[in-house]
Amino acid sequence: MASLTIRKLDEGIKTYLRLRSARNRRSVEEEVRVILGELIEGREEPLTPFAAPPAASSSTPMPQRSGALPEASVTLIIGGGIAAYKSLDLIRRLKERRIEVRCVLTKAAQQFVTPLAVSALSHERVYTDLFDPQSEFDAGHIRLARECDLIVVAPATADLMAKMANGHADDLASAILLATNRKVLLAPAMNPLMWNNAATRRNVAQLQRDGVMLIGPNSGEMAEAGEAGIGRMSEAIEIAAAAERLLRPPVPRPLAGKRVLITAGPTHEPIDPVRYIANRSSGKQGFAIAAAAQAAGAEVILVSGPVDLGDPHGVTVKHVESARQMLEQVQAVLPADIAIFAAAVADWRVANEGEQKLKKTSAGMPPLQLVENPDILATIAKLTDKRPPLVIGFAAETEHLIDNAKSKLARKGCDWIVANDVSPATGVMGGDRNTVHLISRKDGEIAVDSWPVMTKEQVAIELVAHIAKSVTDKSLEPAS
Ligand code: C5P
Repeated sequence: MASLTIRKLDEGIKTYLRLRSARNRRSVEEEVRVILGELIEGREEPLTPFAAPPAASSSTPMPQRSGALPEASVTLIIGGGIAAYKSLDLIRRLKERRIEVRCVLTKAAQQFVTPLAVSALSHERVYTDLFDPQSEFDAGHIRLARECDLIVVAPATADLMAKMANGHADDLASAILLATNRKVLLAPAMNPLMWNNAATRRNVAQLQRDGVMLIGPNSGEMAEAGEAGIGRMSEAIEIAAAAERLLRPPVPRPLAGKRVLITAGPTHEPIDPVRYIANRSSGKQGFAIAAAAQAAGAEVILVSGPVDLGDPHGVTVKHVESARQMLEQVQAVLPADIAIFAAAVADWRVANEGEQKLKKTSAGMPPLQLVENPDILATIAKLTDKRPPLVIGFAAETEHLIDNAKSKLARKGCDWIVANDVSPATGVMGGDRNTVHLISRKDGEIAVDSWPVMTKEQVAIELVAHIAKSVTDKSLEPAS
C-alpha cells in the first residue's frame, strides 16, 4: 500500500489542506482521510484552494486566496494612532498595485478604525486577537507572519516599536513581528516629542540594526492643536510605493544606453538557385546572447543567418543568407558599443555560382571552385574609425581548443574569444548546452576563464554579466 507524505505535496494543496482542516477542526491527516472518503463515496467538495473567498464573516477562520494568484502579498499591521485612518487608503493603494493585503488591528487601532471598514476594503477577514481560538488552532500568528512577502506596520506607534525593539510578543501584532522571517517596513507616526524621546531614538536605532526598514515620519502639523514637527505618518501613496519597491525591486539594466551588435546562425553559400553549402549551427547561442543583452537594457541588433528560431523579443533582427550579406548588414549597423560574432560563417563560398540549377551531365560532377569569404569579425575588429570598443569572437574548435582560440584572438584582433569544443561527442552544435572558456587579455597576459557546463541561456547571461562588468569598470584592454 502506498503511503502519502503531506510535507511533500504542492504548496497550493498544502495551503488548502491547512485551511480546510482548521475550518473543520481536524488534523491535516484526518482531513485527508475525510476527503478521500468523500471522493470514494462520490460526494467530494470541489478542490479549489484558490477559489473566490466567501464574504468576510467571523465564522470563517482564515480566508481562502482569491481568484488568480496574486503577484505579491502583504500583512498590514495597523497600530493605534490617529494616522490609522490613512491606513484605509493604504489598503486601497496596495490593492491597486495587485498586492493582496491581510490586515491585523491592534486593540488600540480599533479605537480609530473598525475591523468592518478594514475588512470591507481588504476583502479579507481582519485579525485582532492572539488568542482567537479559530485562527490560532492553525497557528494563525505564524501564518500571518510567514504567508506574505512583506509586513507593513502603519501607523507604527512608539509603543509598537518599543515592543519590537525588545522582542515582546504579548498581542497578535507583536507576536507576528517576532515570528516573521519576512522584510518589515514601518511607517512611524507619533507626536514629535515622542519621536525625539531618547527611548524612541534607542528603539529606532535598534530596529534599524535589526534590518527593519522605515519610511518617514514626515514633518508637518500634528493632530494635536498647535503642534508641529517630525512625526506625521508618510502618505499612503508613499508607503505603497515603498512597499512595491521592496516587493518588486527594479530589474538591473546594466547595459542601458548601449548598442550591441550580434551575429548568429550559419550562413548559406549558394551553389545554384536551389543548392547551398551550410553548416550545423542552430543559432541558439547567438539568439540567447541577444535575449540576455536585451534583458540587460541594451539596444540589440541581431544579424542572423537562416535558423529555425523565432526573433527574440525586443531585438531588431536582420535576416541574411550568405556571409557577404552578413558583412553588409553588420557594416550598416555600426557604430555599436559592443559587437559579438557568434555566427558560424562559412569560410568559403562557391566562385562560379550557377545562375540556373546545375544539371547532371555525362561529363560528370561539375567542378566547384571555392573562394574565401570575407572574415566579418576580423574586418570589424581591425576598423580604425568605427571599431566597437568591445569586440568578441567565438572559436568553435574540435581540437587544441585553447591554443587555437588564443591564436585566433591575436589573428582576428578582437578583445575576447569565447572558445567552445564542438566535437560531435559534445553535442554542442544544435544542442542546448555549452562548455566555454572566455579568453581575454589581462595586464598584458592572455587569461583563460573556464566556465562549467551550462545551458546556452546561462552562458549568454554569464557573458552579458562579464560584458556589463567590463563596460562599467572601464577595465577593458584594447586589442592593439
Ligand atoms: O576562423 P573561425 O571561423 O574559426 O573564427 C570564428 C570567429 O570568427 C567567430 O566569431 C565567427 O563568427 C567569426 N567569423 C566571421 N567571419 C568569417 C569567419 C568567422 O565573422 N568569415
